[in-house]
Amino acid sequence: MEPCADPDWNLSAIGMPIEVDLGCARGHFLEAMARLYPNRFFLGVERLKLRYEKTIRRVASLENAMAWQVDSRQAVKSLLPKARIDTIHISFPDPWPKRRHHNRRLISPAFLQECAQLLNSSGRLRLMTDHSGYFSVMRAAAWVCNELTEVEWDHREEYPMTEFQKRFALSGVMVYCLALKKVRHSF
Ligand SMILES: C[S@@+](CC[C@H](N)C(=O)[O-])C[C@H]1O[C@@H](n2cnc3c(N)ncnc32)[C@H](O)[C@@H]1O
Repeated sequence: MEPCADPDWNLSAIGMPIEVDLGCARGHFLEAMARLYPNRFFLGVERLKLRYEKTIRRVASLENAMAWQVDSRQAVKSLLPKARIDTIHISFPDPWPKRRHHNRRLISPAFLQECAQLLNSSGRLRLMTDHSGYFSVMRAAAWVCNELTEVEWDHREEYPMTEFQKRFALSGVMVYCLALKKVRHSF
């Protein structure tokens, strides 16, 4: 498959479960996941050109991975197909720790609501952060999102560590994990 930067590329044509890594950086996690699960398709989303290009080089030989250079907000709002995504990974989104920068944070109730609309009926969101304050914000945002419910983090499933997760593990930094699942409404 040709590496693809074009978000108009037709994801609907993919006949495999789709997982999206928002803020994929240099694509380490994306590559490891694509190698581990060849029957799933992995899309990395990264806004910085150099990181996106590194990702594209990293997954160039893989049939089941590609990346977009685009803002995650735009990807979620208007580029990704609705009710089609199996899992959205958001690992260590920039925490913007200063109060005056909190409005730059990616995770909000509205953003999670938009993510929920992309998930299929058994879809999941997996969030990780090293920032306890941001973790509380993530949880509070999930609570007000009526299309998502918190579930236990599944430690049985094999997940390679992300680039930042490895760094934090080496330096003994605490990592907070939040797993959310799409709610099935029975009307
Ligand atoms: C702290 S790093 C974490 C990288 C990776 N997820 C990991 O766990 O190793 C955050 C990454 O998200 C990217 N990023 C931040 N905001 C973004 C946005 N709005 N859209 C797309 N990428 C974003 C940054 O450029 C950076 O590569």
